[in-house]
Amino acid sequence: MNGQLARTSATVLLVCATSLPAKADNLFSADRALAAPCSGCHSREGLLPPLASRPASELRQALLDFRAGTRDGTLMTRIARGYTPAELERIARQLGRPEQ
Ligand code: HEC
Repeated sequence: MNGQLARTSATVLLVCATSLPAKADNLFSADRALAAPCSGCHSREGLLPPLASRPASELRQALLDFRAGTRDGTLMTRIARGYTPAELERIARQLGRPEQ
């Protein structure tokens, strides 16, 4: 390996390494991971209502009601029971429209 190539490789490695933390936060945050399965059914192209346009507090209440069994659901009752109430809160904030 000549000197020029070695310097270029080192620079590329350095740039990659310094840009990793920001990308990793963005792609692999715990909140995003918790909410990832939702888009399989609730997407703009899907049959079910998309979640992104809904206020976060509305999603939160719907999820807690499914979990408690006070709102009738089929799949959502089971799905919501797979999360703790605190996790459902985080999911609602991750997916829903932020409120002032
Ligand atoms: C396997 C498909 C599926 C997945 C995955 C799924 N849902 Fe649902 N969702 C449904 C169905 C079906 C309904 C209609 C209620 C029912 O029958 O359970 C629904 C309804 C809802 C509603 C009520 C919508 C409204 O208009 O009031 C909310 C909120 C919701 N889902 C949130 C979520 C969240 C958040 C996730 C991820 C944790 C999720 N869903 C994952 C199928 C799914």
